[in-house]
Amino acid sequence: MKLTVKAPAKINLHLDILGRLNDGYHSLFMIMQTVSLFDIITVEKGKKGIDITCSNPYVPPKEKNIAYKAAECFFKYINKESCILINIEKNIPLQAGLAGGSADAAGVLVALNRMFGECLNKKELCSLGLKIGSDVPFSITGGTCISQNRGGILSPIKDLGDCFIILAKPEKGVSTKDAFEKADNCILFHPDNLKTLDFCEKGDFEGVFGEAANVFEQIIEVPERVEIKRIMREYGCTFCRMTGSGPTVFGIFKDEDKSHQCCKALEELCPNVFVTKPIRHGATIIN
Ligand code: C5P
Repeated sequence: MKLTVKAPAKINLHLDILGRLNDGYHSLFMIMQTVSLFDIITVEKGKKGIDITCSNPYVPPKEKNIAYKAAECFFKYINKESCILINIEKNIPLQAGLAGGSADAAGVLVALNRMFGECLNKKELCSLGLKIGSDVPFSITGGTCISQNRGGILSPIKDLGDCFIILAKPEKGVSTKDAFEKADNCILFHPDNLKTLDFCEKGDFEGVFGEAANVFEQIIEVPERVEIKRIMREYGCTFCRMTGSGPTVFGIFKDEDKSHQCCKALEELCPNVFVTKPIRHGATIIN
């Protein structure tokens, strides 16, 4: 049995850090959206153990790879010996704020769960996912969601609707761990989460875009960010922000032609630029 999974990237339409939790992680208030940029993961039964291959040599090897940890956790949970071959075709840039690692972990969990007779329901799979990474539950669920606490409390909201989302990833990556450490040592100004929540619940994205922010933009230095946003606005984007702890900047467009023209203009500034669409699902088995 060989399964192929499409594992999507995510963006944060909104991100605020509310405080520190007892386990050292941070309590967050976020609006999340999966987009049509996918890692392709194949999982098949192999010899004893967990074997991983990846198209990108910069992805951490073996035990350090989050996809490996996901498989290890799954086999431990179902109390079976591991015997799996995983291949990751990496399209989501690394250290980008796009949850590429979480997408891979989610993809592995979804595939293994199918392979072993759907022995975990979605809630159990998400709880297991949270042990592996904060964005894994959302990478399993996908769509448009409010995410609270560490990332394990997800509330689906009205979907974003038809639009085009440019992802522009500047060269230098950002470590999420370092970004949170920096946040602990800075005074942050916070957005109005209650207003944002209210607009979310009403499905009023114009309202959301008027309030939404990403507090990491105050402390993570991305020299290209101002120029990327200027170009996105020049081409008529309705909303642009940095996603996660950065450095990727996304812009939302109504007009497809304009989004492609903008993508071309951004290519001089960023090594990785993608035109994507919002999608309504997380990691999905395609065959
Ligand atoms: O959970 P994940 O591995 O994605 O997180 C990477 C790092 O980011 C963690 O080791 C932690 O330092 C930080 N983090 C945090 N609070 C969160 C999510 C991540 O402090 N809610």
